[in-house]
Amino acid sequence: VLKRSFSTSSVRQVIKNVTVIGGGLMGSGIAQVAAQGGNNVTLVEVNSELLKKAEASITNNLGRVAKKLYKDDPNGAKKFVDETQSRLKGSTNPSDAVKDSDLVVEAIVENMSVKHKLFKALDEAAPPKTLFASNTSSLSIGEIAAVVNRKDKFGGLHFFNPVPVMKLLEIVRIPEQSEETYQAFVAWGKAIRKTCVTCKDTPGFIVNRLLVPYIAEAIRMMERGDASPRDIDIAMKLGAGYPMGPIELADYVGHDTTASIIQGWHEKFPDNPLFNPCESTKRLVQEKKLGVKTGEGYYKYNNLRYWLEN
Ligand code: NAI
Repeated sequence: VLKRSFSTSSVRQVIKNVTVIGGGLMGSGIAQVAAQGGNNVTLVEVNSELLKKAEASITNNLGRVAKKLYKDDPNGAKKFVDETQSRLKGSTNPSDAVKDSDLVVEAIVENMSVKHKLFKALDEAAPPKTLFASNTSSLSIGEIAAVVNRKDKFGGLHFFNPVPVMKLLEIVRIPEQSEETYQAFVAWGKAIRKTCVTCKDTPGFIVNRLLVPYIAEAIRMMERGDASPRDIDIAMKLGAGYPMGPIELADYVGHDTTASIIQGWHEKFPDNPLFNPCESTKRLVQEKKLGVKTGEGYYKYNNLRYWLEN
C-alpha cells in the first residue's frame, strides 16, 4: 500500500516568534505567558512610556510566578525570571515588530476602526506565513478580519483576566479560517499551558455570552426589588456553588466594561431581550461608580478590607 505523501496543509505550522500588540491589562499578560511558554515575544505599545509600564508590570508578575514555582530555590527563581525576560523585547513600531512573526495577537482598545487601521497596516508589513489573532471580548472576529487579505490565517484568541492565572483560552473560528491555522492556534494554546475551547464567531463567544446576560438578569432582579443584592449574591454562592455572586462579579469586572459590551450587542441585536442594558448600571457609569476599581459600584469598597476578606 502506498503511503499518501504529505500535503502542505498537513505540515504543522510551529509558532515560535510572537508579536503582542497592546501592552495593557491583557496584552502584558499574554506577552508574559507566551515568553514563559518559550516564545520569542515582541510587545508593541504606542510610546516608550507605556512600554516601560507594561514591562514593569510583567517583571512584577514574573517575580510572583517565580516565587510560587521555586519556593525554596532562589537561584532557580532568578534563572526563570532572567530566561523569560531574555525572550521578551519591546517595540513602538508595529510594522517592524511583525517582520519575522509567526503569530500576532492584538490586544489594543476595543474599537473596530482602530483595530481595522492596525490590521490593515500589519497585513502589508507581515510576511505571508504570519497568523493574526484578536483578543477582542465583544467585537466580531469576522468583522475585524474584513480588512485583511489573509482571512484563512485569522481567528480569535480570547484570554481571561488575569491572563497568567486564568487557565482558559477560547479559540474563535471564522468560516474562512484554514484547518492548519486552527491547529496552529490549538498547539500554541497548549504550549503556553492554557486549556483551549473552540467556538464560532458569535457575540460573547462562550463565557461572556453566558456570563453577561446572567449578570444583567441578576441586576434586573435587584432593580425589580425581588431580592436584595446581598441575598442574590449569597444565593448564587451557596445555592449554585459559584465562587462569586453576580452583583459582586459585576462590581469586580467593572460597570464601564459590561455596559459597553451589552450596549454593543443591544445595538446589533435589538430584539434580543437578554441584551437589554440595565438602567441602574447606566446610572453607575454616569456617576463613575465603576465597581471595585473606583471603590464603589453596587457595593462600597474599602479596598484594603475587600482584598483581605476575599
Ligand atoms: P487596556 O486599555 O488595559 O490596554 C490596551 C492597550 O493598548 C493600552 O495600553 C494602549 O496604549 C494600547 N494601544 C492602543 N492602541 C494601540 C496601537 N494602535 N498599537 C499598540 N498599542 C495600542 O485594555 P485591555 O483590558 O487590556 O483590553 C485589550 C483588548 O482585550 C480589548 O480588545 C478587550 O476587549 C480585550 N479583552 C479584555 C479583557 C479584560 O478583562 N479587560 C478580557 C479579555 C479580552
